[in-house]
Amino acid sequence: MKKTPYNIYQCIDNDLYNDKKNQWWQADSPLYLISSSFNPARISYLRKKLITELNINPQGKLALDIGCGGGFLCEELARVGFSVTGIDPSEQSIQIATNHSNISGLQINYIIGTGEALPYDNSSIDFVFCCDVLEHVRDLPKVISEISRVLKPGGLFFYDTINRTWLSQLIAINILQVWQSWAIAPPNLHVWKMFIKPKELRLLLEENNLEWKDPIGLMPNTAFPFVLHNLRKRSKGELSYKDFGEKIWMKESKVTSLMYIGFAIKH
Ligand SMILES: C[S@@+](CC[C@H](N)C(=O)[O-])C[C@H]1O[C@@H](n2cnc3c(N)ncnc32)[C@H](O)[C@@H]1O
Repeated sequence: MKKTPYNIYQCIDNDLYNDKKNQWWQADSPLYLISSSFNPARISYLRKKLITELNINPQGKLALDIGCGGGFLCEELARVGFSVTGIDPSEQSIQIATNHSNISGLQINYIIGTGEALPYDNSSIDFVFCCDVLEHVRDLPKVISEISRVLKPGGLFFYDTINRTWLSQLIAINILQVWQSWAIAPPNLHVWKMFIKPKELRLLLEENNLEWKDPIGLMPNTAFPFVLHNLRKRSKGELSYKDFGEKIWMKESKVTSLMYIGFAIKH
């Protein structure tokens, strides 16, 4: 895989994370959907893999969350005992994340920066997390090589991302962003050509000494007519993003053609 060409990268709106309208922790912000509809599935996957299956004690282990946004994942990681740093290019997001961690009484280090240039020594981090971010970055091969560089041998890289399939074109782009009867996400939140097929990610990880472990799919918790019904209500303003997330959320599935979540081990 190559760095995203400029003509494609310029279609994604990564500036929206600096827009004053987008306040991560507010129930009426589209970004709140990540907390209500996506984060619970991630946390349950992470707990299952890390604590139950791999028997890892997170206490004091160094965790880096790349593209941390407003800190939804960082806060959960800090709560289970990781020593957490969140990094993100969006100054506003880092400010919001810092303020919110103070309100939550959590010790989290937040810094401005990108996944393409991590300000850490080689082999210095125990765990790297990168959730709903790989499909946003300009230079994915560079980000993966940076993740591999900073991870200690035996360290783990956790991610979730969106697959590049007809299903993601239909749901993540057309329904969520384009078709106004249902669209509830900002129009250029995602760009289909920047989505990543599992086999592409696998190759990149393996080229960077990161051992691929089979990911699992993420799909909505309920039947599509009910999802569409609630998208319609949200698009008409009858539900807040928080209310929507209480009805519709992602859960693990054998189907990886929309989203997938997984991890890799640094050798
Ligand atoms: C959809 S948000 C996900 C936020 C967070 N990971 C979560 O799940 O709550 C995508 C985030 O990626 C960040 N981002 C965009 N380009 C990036 C890059 N090159 N390196 C690191 N983060 C980046 C954005 O600023 C934004 O906060």
